[in-house]
Amino acid sequence: MTGVPGGGGRDEPVEFAAAEDFLRQFHSEIGSPTAYDERVHAVRAEIDETGTYEHTLAELTFGARVAWRNAARCIGRLYWNSLHIRDRRSLSVPSDVAAESIAHLRESTRGGRIRSTITVFAPDRPGRPGPRIVNEQLIRYAGYRRPDGGVLGDPRSVDLTTRAVALGWDRPSPPGPFDVLPLLVTDGNGATSRYDVPRDAVLEVPISHPEYPWFAELGLRWHAVPAISNMPLEIGGVRYPAAPFNGYYVGTEVGARNLADADRYDMLPTVAARLGLDTTSARTMWKDRALVELVRAVHHSFDQAGVTMADHHTESERFLTHLHREERAGRRCPADWSWIVPPMSASTTPVFHRYYDEPRADTRPAYLPVDS
Ligand code: ARG
Repeated sequence: MTGVPGGGGRDEPVEFAAAEDFLRQFHSEIGSPTAYDERVHAVRAEIDETGTYEHTLAELTFGARVAWRNAARCIGRLYWNSLHIRDRRSLSVPSDVAAESIAHLRESTRGGRIRSTITVFAPDRPGRPGPRIVNEQLIRYAGYRRPDGGVLGDPRSVDLTTRAVALGWDRPSPPGPFDVLPLLVTDGNGATSRYDVPRDAVLEVPISHPEYPWFAELGLRWHAVPAISNMPLEIGGVRYPAAPFNGYYVGTEVGARNLADADRYDMLPTVAARLGLDTTSARTMWKDRALVELVRAVHHSFDQAGVTMADHHTESERFLTHLHREERAGRRCPADWSWIVPPMSASTTPVFHRYYDEPRADTRPAYLPVDS
C-alpha cells in the first residue's frame, strides 16, 4: 500500500516505480481482465514514449477511492469504496473546469441527499501542467476586511476575497456575511480566471434552534456541501492538480468550528448573551453551553431542510467500524488523532480513547497537502 512518491516536479516524467507500485496494488485488490504483466509492459512503453501514462477508468476509480481510504485526517472513510467518480480528464481549459465544478455541485447536492463525489480534470503532463482551482473549497464565503481591522464574513477567506476582487469580482452590494465567492481557476500557463458560482448551484441552510425562536434572528446559515478543491490527487506517479471532491458535513465542523472559532464567525459570545449566560468567568462554562446550543441548532436546521449531515457520535462509531474492517482486510489504517477526534465532547466518543497507525508522508494514492 505504501507507494513510491511520484515524479518530483509537475513537469517531470512519471517515475516508473510509482506506476508499478500502484498497478501491483490495483491488481492485487481488484484483479482485472488485463493481466498485471501485460499492463505493466504497456505502461512502461507509454512512459518511455510520452513521459506519462493514462489510467484506465477502473484504475482512476480505484485510485481516487484508495486515496480517500488513505486520508488520515478523515473520520468519514467507512464509505470510501462508494466514492462517485466524474471523469473529466479531457478538460483543462479554465472555463470548462469551472462549468464542470459547478455541475459537480449540482450532482453531488441532489437536493440535500448528498453524494460523495470527485471530479477529475486533466493531469500534469511533462511540459504541460494541468489546471488548478485556487479556492480551497468550491463553496466559500467571502471575508471583507473592515477599516477597524475586523472582518465581515469568513475571516478565513480574506485573501481569496482580495484575489477575487483584483480579478474583477463584482461583489454584492452591500456586502454580507455569507457571500459565495467566485471560482478562481489557473490554467497550465499560470493564468488565473474568475467564474461566478450560480446561486441555484449552492444549497444553503438557514440556522434556527429547536427551542429558541431568537436563534433564527442571528441570520446564520451554512452551505450543504463541503467540496475540497485545492488538494492534488496523486495516483501511480500521475498527479491530478484539479480534482475537487466532496463528502457531507459532520455538524461539529459547522457548529463547533466554522461558526464558533474565535478566528472564524466567533458566535459564542453572541449566543451566550442571548442565552442569558454569565460570561464574567470562564468557570461558568458559558462557552461550552453556547457551543452545545449552536451545534444543536445546526443539526436541527440541516435535518429540517432534509440535508445530509452526520453527528460526531455516529460518525465516530462508523470510523471504528471502518478501522476494524481495514484490520480484517490486513491493511494499515493511518489516522491523525488530532483531526479524527471531534472538536467537542471528545471523551464521549469512542475515537478519543485510543491511538492509531501513524500516517506516512509517502503513502499513495493520496490527496496531497496543498502546494506539495
Ligand atoms: N471542515 C471543512 C469545513 O468546515 C470541511 C472539510 C471536509 N469535511 C467533510 N465533511 N468532508 O468546511
